[in-house]
Formats: sequence, structure tokens, C-alpha cells
Amino acid sequence: MPGERGGGGRGADGRSAGRGVDSRDDRPVELVIDGGAREWARLDAAHRSGDLDDAGWFAAAQAVLVPAYLAGDNPRAQSGHSGDEARWEEARRHILAAVDRPGDLLDVGCASGHLMESLHRWSSGAVEPYGLELSPELADLARRRLPAWAPRIWIGNALYWIPPAGRRFDYVRTGLDYVPAVRRADLIAHLLRHVVARRLVVGSFNEENAERTTERDVTAMGYRIAGRDERPHPDPRVTRRVFWIDV
Ligand SMILES: C[S@@+](CC[C@H](N)C(=O)[O-])C[C@H]1O[C@@H](n2cnc3c(N)ncnc32)[C@H](O)[C@@H]1O
Repeated sequence: MPGERGGGGRGADGRSAGRGVDSRDDRPVELVIDGGAREWARLDAAHRSGDLDDAGWFAAAQAVLVPAYLAGDNPRAQSGHSGDEARWEEARRHILAAVDRPGDLLDVGCASGHLMESLHRWSSGAVEPYGLELSPELADLARRRLPAWAPRIWIGNALYWIPPAGRRFDYVRTGLDYVPAVRRADLIAHLLRHVVARRLVVGSFNEENAERTTERDVTAMGYRIAGRDERPHPDPRVTRRVFWIDV
């Protein structure tokens, strides 16, 4: 699962933080991509075999990451990122490549709300951020950190959540690894059908350079990729990717 969802592991940018670009990490590439890769593979295998149902998968994933995020001593760590602020910006700012005009943006899985405030700042206010978070504890943390935006932060599961009063968002940013692997198509369909006004943004996530696997999977689901952005990762085997689908 590309990204940085995991606690103890997910923090793909963490171990190499502080090194320059092109510094190969000593770990297997799947752990550079996602430090929690083995844990997530185990959960997805259990889900595929029927040992875990959807609810069990979400509970198991939350049991790994929520305590780890809550133990963080800064808003990046509380969003699952173990690098410094410069590395955070390297890893996240290119999400704004998807923002071609001002609008509101729902950050699915907003954790501490740090991406909400970062995108607002980096875009000089062109992005009006909103948040959705599965963990009540993390949503509460985001609301306490960002009291002016507290009413914009909802608790819910992106796979099922329906915004209040028929509201939609110009931009909706998500990770596909926020649901069991076999439910990714359902997540995209649900968000496009009920939440997105204009553009669904997937990423930023880490992936091996050679192949755009996630984009290929989403294309195979029948969606047209409207745009993408790619940036180098400090490990030369890995690329940071974001892409988007327009409604
Ligand atoms: C890696 S953090 C992302 C933080 C921030 N949005 C970013 O991109 O840097 C993932 C967050 O998504 C939340 N999450 C995971 N699955 C979710 C789901 N199905 N619906 C809503 N939130 C979810 C997790 O609780 C966690 O706080």
C-alpha cells in the first residue's frame, strides 16, 4: 500500500530523512515505499481469505496507526510522516499540481489536519480545506489544533460517508490504501458519485519508478486519468506520484 499510512512502519520518508536526493535506502524497496507494507499485505490477505470482513480490516488498520499517530510529538508525525518540515513539503506540496483554480478541497483521512493547513498555506489560500477522518481521536486532535476549522472536520469512513446537505467539494484528495485492496474501486466510485464536484485526487503516494501500477489499476477500472504529477523520492528506486480523475 503506497503511502505512509502506518504507524511504526509507515513513514516511508522517515529513515532517509535528512539525506540528499538519490540516497538509496538500505531497506527492501517495498519498505521504502511504505514502512508498513508487510503489515498491510497481511491485513489484505486476511481480508481476501475471509478471515477479516470490511469492519475487521478497518479496525485492525486503525489499531496499528492511530496509537502511533497519537504518540507523535508534532503535526507531521500525527499525520503519519516521520520526516522534517522540508521533507514533508517535498512529499506533499505537489498535490497542488491538481489544483488548477481556487476551490474547496476535502482531505480524506485528514489525521492531525496538517495537510489541510499546509495546502492552504502553500496555495496562498486558493485551497479552502476540509477534512474527513475515520478515527474520532484523530479528528478531535485536528479540531483542537485547528479550532477555526473544527466545523469543517467530519468523522466518517470514506467508503460510506455522505456529506451533509448534499454538499460536494471541488477537489477530494484520498489514498486508495484507506480501504481493503479489493474495495478500492468501490471507494473511487463512492467518492465520485457522492462527494466530488470536479476532481478526485489520488496521492501523493510512493511507487517503484518502473511502472505506474496504481494508475494502471485505476485505468483498468474504467477511469480516465485526467492529469498527473511525479517527483523524485530520495531513494532512486522510488517516485512520488499523484494523479487525478475528473467527473
Ligand atoms: C497517512 S494519514 C494521511 C494524513 C494526510 N491526509 C496526508 O495525506 O498526509 C491517513 C489517515 O487516513 C485515515 N483513514 C484511513 N482509512 C480511512 C477511511 N476509510 N476513511 C477516512 N479516513 C481514513 C487514518 O485514520 C489516517 O489518519
